[in-house]
Amino acid sequence: MLSTAFILTSFVLTASAKLAIIGEYHGEYSPCSFHQVVVTETEFRDAYLPNPDSVTNITQYDNDEKYLVGQNIDWEYAKDKWSRIDWEYVEGKFTYCRIVYNADNETEAKSFAKPKIAIKNSCGGFPWSTMTSGLATLRAP
Ligand SMILES: *[C@@H]1O[C@H](CO)[C@@H](O)[C@H](O)[C@H]1NC(C)=O
Ligand SMILES: *[C@@H]1O[C@H](CO)[C@@H](O)[C@H](O)[C@H]1NC(C)=O
Repeated sequence: MLSTAFILTSFVLTASAKLAIIGEYHGEYSPCSFHQVVVTETEFRDAYLPNPDSVTNITQYDNDEKYLVGQNIDWEYAKDKWSRIDWEYVEGKFTYCRIVYNADNETEAKSFAKPKIAIKNSCGGFPWSTMTSGLATLRAP
């Protein structure tokens, strides 16, 4: 009896778990440009300030496997295409890789294998992005 109740409770908690990476992050991209990311339960926004945000609508995620899949909204170069974003923590810092940004649909985006962070430039030939918690403060030009 007790153990059945326990299993059911665990299942419900797991099923309703929120996206694990909700938050605001920034990284220094070049001397006067900041890479900034804002994640909610439904959106992954990233920007290279002062350029505007690129928004990806999140349609599914897996906190255990540490990835999400979503559709790009109004991107100039990949409008309505699909992205897969994988994440890890490196010395406590949120670190991510958008392994694909121009898949034709959700299934294709999801099918990309998780890149291995231990391998240099495993994010499609580029390094993963390591972020600091909090939004960027723009410097005077
Ligand atoms: C993106 O998400 C917003 C709100 O979550 C929704 O209103 C909008 O229709 C979505 N856009 C697409 C193209 O799915
Ligand atoms: C998704 O896109 C791929 C690549 O273009 C295509 O082969 C596949 O049929 C598409 N799947 C669906 C469900 O539309």
